[in-house]
Amino acid sequence: MAYHVPEPRFAGSGLGGFLGPASVMSHLEVHRAHAAALNAELESIGASAHPRHISSVLSDPLSVPEGSRGRIGFYGGGYDNHSVYWESLVPGGSRPGPALEGQADVYYGGLGGLSGEIESVSLGIEGSGWCWLALDPSLMRIRVLATPGEQSPRSMRLVPLLGLDMWEHAHYLEYGPDRRSYVRGWLGSANWARAEALLAPLG
Ligand SMILES: [Fe+2]
Repeated sequence: MAYHVPEPRFAGSGLGGFLGPASVMSHLEVHRAHAAALNAELESIGASAHPRHISSVLSDPLSVPEGSRGRIGFYGGGYDNHSVYWESLVPGGSRPGPALEGQADVYYGGLGGLSGEIESVSLGIEGSGWCWLALDPSLMRIRVLATPGEQSPRSMRLVPLLGLDMWEHAHYLEYGPDRRSYVRGWLGSANWARAEALLAPLG
């Protein structure tokens, strides 16, 4: 299957005070470039009709030939990470629910503590990378972590709940080098309901 990137629903209007339409479109170009490179790589190994979705391949890198593993990890990670990024944002942000609030209380002292941890981990990233709110299914708990480059948290057997792109292209047009303001804008636009929807069925 070939991967395509649809326009996010807020592409024309931007994300309130967080990202304007020009930033959204510039980020979308990066996402589409990753999808095109991923499609080309899958085609080169005869796997363009691969029945497994890329999120499964990222969770099980040994399922693709060794010579393509690095490129599929990078472009597939870039494609999937950016898909999560768009789903992680909604104009004005959204409300969490009891499942996420319960996890945040136990592991981070509440939602304020969780937001503080996301800010601290994301600003600690040197160079290009991502900050994640993820579920560790083996421990049934949320984690905040960073990955370098386009490495997917799925490669660590974690489920990405919310993704914060810390590459320069994500913030420079709107915020220049002021990454703290970018991260705080992201926190204000975070789609906590996405994390809640993935956590709630776990009880
Ligand atoms: Fe990006």
